[in-house]
Amino acid sequence: MTKDSKLDDKRVEDTLFAEAQPLVDFAFDDAVADVFPDMIRRSVPGYETVISMLGVLAREYAQAHSNVYDLGCSLGAATLAMHRQTRELSLNHICVDNSESMIRRCRSRLQRHMPEAALEVLCEDIETLAIRNASVVTLNFTLQFIAPEARLKLLSKIHQGLRPGGALILSEKLVFERDSENQNQLNWHHAFKRANGYSDLEISQKRAALENVLIPDSREQHVERLSQAGFCEIVQWFQAFNFASFVAIKK
Ligand SMILES: C[S@@+](CC[C@H](N)C(=O)[O-])C[C@H]1O[C@@H](n2cnc3c(N)ncnc32)[C@H](O)[C@@H]1O
Repeated sequence: MTKDSKLDDKRVEDTLFAEAQPLVDFAFDDAVADVFPDMIRRSVPGYETVISMLGVLAREYAQAHSNVYDLGCSLGAATLAMHRQTRELSLNHICVDNSESMIRRCRSRLQRHMPEAALEVLCEDIETLAIRNASVVTLNFTLQFIAPEARLKLLSKIHQGLRPGGALILSEKLVFERDSENQNQLNWHHAFKRANGYSDLEISQKRAALENVLIPDSREQHVERLSQAGFCEIVQWFQAFNFASFVAIKK
């Protein structure tokens, strides 16, 4: 077993921001990839629920012999959940991330956990990726890392690449238009992180590192943009504090 595949199976505790350190922008590098399952579970309220419901939702929209895309796949958690619910549909799973550190671990993990599946694991920029013959596309906490001015183009390309009746599942961190709601949701998110064992130093250093990298939109911005991209039915199906998920369906 390689070092990477051992790390996949053992949850490594995230202590990346535990010591005081100079401010550097957050990157999805080897250090983050090694602790990613622990980091995302302790940082994103409802992450495990969102992952398992992606399987349920994928089952609703997946069409036999189509492509299912996991854009910004990290270690492939969304693809594993979707595959578990759709095995009999002869789907082609396409997982894409532009972090070599993530893709290397994702490839070995998915090849071990879904060896029978048709699978492509690509180290590419999702902004330039071609999307074709898709019935389900997931952007699970990924759009927030794309430059705001490039988001509509990406969503329009996804809409064009979906078959009629197909769906995009979009999960994101949110900001809120009302200041007091925004402040409450932020406080509750930090309380969630403290309840999961992160110190105030870890919370503030990670927040500063993400400041220029993760740019959240409001619920209203998402709905407006999805509708501009061509989606006819947009439903917010999940929210835990300032994290939400939407299903957007192509007619
Ligand atoms: C928060 S993680 C996504 C989590 C993952 N979808 C899951 O459900 O576990 C965001 C991912 O998006 C990837 N990413 C960011 N910008 C990207 C781009 N332009 N092209 C491809 N991947 C990108 C990052 O490398 C990172 O792995």
